[in-house]
Amino acid sequence: MTRLVVLISGGGSNLQTLLDGCHNGDIPAEVVAVISNKADAFGLKRAQQAGIATEVIDHRQFADREHFDAALAERIDHHQPDLIALAGFMRILTAGFVARYQGRMLNIHPSLLPKYPGLHTHQRAIDAGDTDAGATVHFVTAELDGGPPIAQASVPIKENDTASELAKRVLAQEHRLYPSVVRWFAEGRLTLVNNQAILDGTPLPKTGRLLDTANHEAT
Ligand code: GAR
Repeated sequence: MTRLVVLISGGGSNLQTLLDGCHNGDIPAEVVAVISNKADAFGLKRAQQAGIATEVIDHRQFADREHFDAALAERIDHHQPDLIALAGFMRILTAGFVARYQGRMLNIHPSLLPKYPGLHTHQRAIDAGDTDAGATVHFVTAELDGGPPIAQASVPIKENDTASELAKRVLAQEHRLYPSVVRWFAEGRLTLVNNQAILDGTPLPKTGRLLDTANHEAT
């Protein structure tokens, strides 16, 4: 059984879909710990509700990113995970930390990467006059939001859309995107080789596999 550690900073709705997927058997993995850099993250309550171990490592207690990342790695390794999923974890990670978990750390980002790495993705997509937005799950590499994409789901941007309405529409897609990708990894179908994401032995396209938004099936 794949051992999964989830890192969060906030509400944890993506965490919830992973907890549910593992609990109901859709994802052959076990969430062994949830770690937050914020003590008041609601996601910690979700984890506790599910009977999962939680830890808080407050980044403000550390002199710099290196020391925070060292403490985080120490706690992650304690749980001996096969996979680490960043689920709304809002910290930039050092290159050394990322290298330590190369090929076994995933992130979900609320844009159609390579568009809009970083923050305020929905407002930036609206301001640019884009007709669609979405989310991407990718392997984490040293480049912020720049690791090889695994899968994307898109949604339309509507006339007079607000960033918060668009965020809700995207989040609904995140909730089916992330469990699918974590399932692929847990089933041993997904790997990172030479900075290329491979699914079922085949290199994925540059933007990852596009999940069909009309038909809610992901194989
Ligand atoms: C999600 O939209 C996720 O894609 C985004 O934060 C939200 C977390 O929601 N992540 C990032 O922006 C990472 N840079 P959640 O806490 O309800 O899962």
